[in-house]
Amino acid sequence: MKIARLTLSDRASAGIYEDRSGPEIERVLAEHPFSKEPIEWLRVVIPDEQPQIEAALRRVCDQEGCVLVLTTGGTGPSPRDVTPEATRAVIERELPGFGEIMRIQSFSKVPTSILSRSTAGTRGRSLIVNLPGNPRAIGECLPLVIPAIREALRHLEPAQS
Ligand code: MTE
Repeated sequence: MKIARLTLSDRASAGIYEDRSGPEIERVLAEHPFSKEPIEWLRVVIPDEQPQIEAALRRVCDQEGCVLVLTTGGTGPSPRDVTPEATRAVIERELPGFGEIMRIQSFSKVPTSILSRSTAGTRGRSLIVNLPGNPRAIGECLPLVIPAIREALRHLEPAQS
């Protein structure tokens, strides 16, 4: 099973700080496995540039055939945060419940959770899910949506003949 993780951050892509969010996605999925198939990871770190993000999302879905694409970062309110816009530009069907549950479930512990505009959606047979950029937020948000990821991937599988 091919899964892409995209870290969207000007500073991580420039090497100003180490990308801790991308590796955290892998750690959380290792702790909360949702499939028996071994994972082949595609790892991408790029700046908060909408055309670059859209191109990367299209490539990992259409050329690399990743069934799942997890992004981290760029979901907030600052002018450089464009991950939800890039995601909406490439998806065919939006699944707003992913972002909604992350914001709602985190809110009592992390009142700033509502600053994330994260969303999700499908492109062909791929599922794209935005996560906030803070490594701790990944541990707080990703486990919440793993059952829905598992079910969505089942719905996106090619029909058996
Ligand atoms: N959600 C959880 N669970 N934990 C967090 O620490 N950080 C919030 C929010 N969601 C956070 C969270 C903050 S402070 C911001 S600005 C937004 O996610 C957007 O973060 P991003 O731009 O790095 O994606």
